[in-house]
Amino acid sequence: MQNQEVYNELVAKFEKVYGEKPTVVSYAPGRIEVLGNHTDYNEGYVFSAAIDKGTFFAASPTADETCELTAGDFMETAKFSINDVKPATEMTWQNYVTGTFNWLFAGKPAEAKHGWKGMFLGNIPLGAGLSSSAALEMCTGLALAKIYGLTVDKTEMAKIGQKAEHTFAGCPCGLLDQASSMYGKEGSLVKSDFRTNTFESVSMGDKVAFMMVKSNAKHALVDGAYASRRAACEDAAKYFASVLKKGSVTHLRDVTMAEWVLYRGGLPETTAKRAVHPIGEDERVIQGAELLAKGDLVGFGALMYDSHESSRNWFENSCEELDVIVDTAKAIPEVYGARLSGGGFGGSCCLLVDPTAADKIAEIITKEYKAKFGDEPTCSLIKPSEGAHLV
Ligand code: GLA
Repeated sequence: MQNQEVYNELVAKFEKVYGEKPTVVSYAPGRIEVLGNHTDYNEGYVFSAAIDKGTFFAASPTADETCELTAGDFMETAKFSINDVKPATEMTWQNYVTGTFNWLFAGKPAEAKHGWKGMFLGNIPLGAGLSSSAALEMCTGLALAKIYGLTVDKTEMAKIGQKAEHTFAGCPCGLLDQASSMYGKEGSLVKSDFRTNTFESVSMGDKVAFMMVKSNAKHALVDGAYASRRAACEDAAKYFASVLKKGSVTHLRDVTMAEWVLYRGGLPETTAKRAVHPIGEDERVIQGAELLAKGDLVGFGALMYDSHESSRNWFENSCEELDVIVDTAKAIPEVYGARLSGGGFGGSCCLLVDPTAADKIAEIITKEYKAKFGDEPTCSLIKPSEGAHLV
């Protein structure tokens, strides 16, 4: 479904369920991660982009303390009071919304004084690693901020969504997904520095495009694999802080590849393997920025392939399906680079491609994937797009 159709359907369903028009509608896009994997919570760098698919949130205030929230796709409704906002164990989809509401009011939603009626609907494929949950948080945040007359800057809004993930949805994510959704710019990549929380737009030119290839491998970040990677990175940072005799070392952002090579011997083998991934990714993003500035897309693409190798061999957040997509892409001349995108363990690959060869690329990858796994991946061209906004 196109965005306009999603919007129309949402507004029509809202009127049907609540018997009135919404007073506010907001939109927030999903994101692709282009380079810099698992660097955000290590205070490192990432290239990402907001995509041309997202989630809309329609809302109106209520006069009393009640809230009603409807998932516009399967039409389930949750009801609660502003005095009783807590993580749900049933209809857990509501946690992204209620968590955002909770942190919009710094954990004291009763201070909102009155409730709201809300409904959301989107077109980001779920479980694809395109951050449908961050999109839901960001459109919730924008719509509710409008209803309550709150002024929240983009970084603050991203952090509110991240807190909702941590405390209501159970994923100890970094800030990448929410920040990409907030700071996206049409035709541009977002270059993020997660130490200073600065977000720059970098134009891509029109000679290249991104193709997302969604595997059918399950992608879930709340089952412990993501958390265990994050914990390994934090353990490694503590170790490097103790052995490196330089200024402050608080995160893997502060450790160079040369230092990892020299001191890795003091770490358990698995922790050392995990640590080298974000360290290498930071270096690749810095190098990638220089290559992009020179218009060297082949060089930039090669860094994407290196990134995937690092995921596959060191961080071990790839899987057979994603490896087959990347290995197949490597043999196609019109693909400049390919890597897994986002948390990993399934989900999608992001390919940097010559858009004029999109059909051919999709055909080759689909054929190879089907021969190996029996089912077909979904290939779609992605246009870097504008970030979250009120409609
Ligand atoms: C998920 C998380 C992000 C980030 C990526 C990996 O998308 O939500 O915070 O860590 O994985 O780069």
